Amino acid sequence: MVLERVQDVASLSKESIPEEYIRSEDEQPGSTTVQGEVLEVPTIDVRDDQDEEKLLQAIVEASQHWGMFQVVNHEIPAEVITELQAVGKEFFGLPQEEKEVYAKPPGSQSVEGYGTMLQKELGGKKGWVDHLFHKIWPPSAINYHFWPKYPPSYRETNEKYTKYLHGVAEKLFKSLSLGLGLEGHELKEAAGGDELVYLLKINYYPPCPRPDLALGAVAHTDMSFFTILVPNEVQGLQAFKDGHWYDVKYIPNALVIHIGDQIEIMSNGKYKSVLHRTTVDKEKTRISWPVFLEPPSEFEVGPHPKLLNEDNPPKYKTKKYSDYVYCKLNKLPQ
Ligand code: OGA
Ligand code: NI
Repeated sequence: MVLERVQDVASLSKESIPEEYIRSEDEQPGSTTVQGEVLEVPTIDVRDDQDEEKLLQAIVEASQHWGMFQVVNHEIPAEVITELQAVGKEFFGLPQEEKEVYAKPPGSQSVEGYGTMLQKELGGKKGWVDHLFHKIWPPSAINYHFWPKYPPSYRETNEKYTKYLHGVAEKLFKSLSLGLGLEGHELKEAAGGDELVYLLKINYYPPCPRPDLALGAVAHTDMSFFTILVPNEVQGLQAFKDGHWYDVKYIPNALVIHIGDQIEIMSNGKYKSVLHRTTVDKEKTRISWPVFLEPPSEFEVGPHPKLLNEDNPPKYKTKKYSDYVYCKLNKLPQ
């Protein structure tokens, strides 16, 4: 058997882990995580019946200083999230050969499909994680080949979640737009408007006998405008701030928002894309469901023209999203 999937590696690793999963010393979570620190990624209550000005300020501040925040009392019903989690978990519980039906085709230009690694890492190191990627919006961008047929409710459940996500995305774009001094609709419009692509990923982090030495996702910023993530109950996400790694506390039914590279670019650096990584657990499987909001690949993204003037010259290039992705994945300068 060729050990390609981390799920297979994990089932055979009882005490030690293969060398390629052992991080360098300056990355190992056991020695680089801040312990017992009170600082926390902001939690923002987005209930409708509250002071709008205050809410806006909280979102803007978190996007400037952390690039990450958790949202509670949003409009997605708890059972919709629970179902999304249940069907994704069932997919990863299928026998390996049934999951391989959805494997990302070798040489494919798209990230869609079941797979193990996205970026080549320096030194040939690997993250302790498998994933499934597929687009969930717009309908014209969806390739159902990559949507699991088992469990049978997978499709309906994901469609329902997508429907609710639109509302959350709209509100975030509006707040971020107002926070830049633009009109509420201007940021989303400049981000592709109705052509915005929603790309779902399921991360599957099997138990790992040496969680002190391995990482799930290595430190990175997301390429998206922003990312809306649902985790399961197993702790693991960490955010980097002022030189330290902090655990992002698991809150049931919260959505974790990551400011991504494209919003940092559009805001000309006012908002910061967050450096983050994930740790793994000794006994439990961690699963997460990020949705990356991205422009279509041919779409050009740059600092919003209305923000630029003599005192605020562009700090980033305007370029096609596909070119941005190519440079990032191949570790080339942007
Ligand atoms: C990612 C990511 C975090 C998590 O997939 O880009 O950062 O909590 N995931 O799994
Ligand atoms: Ni990420």
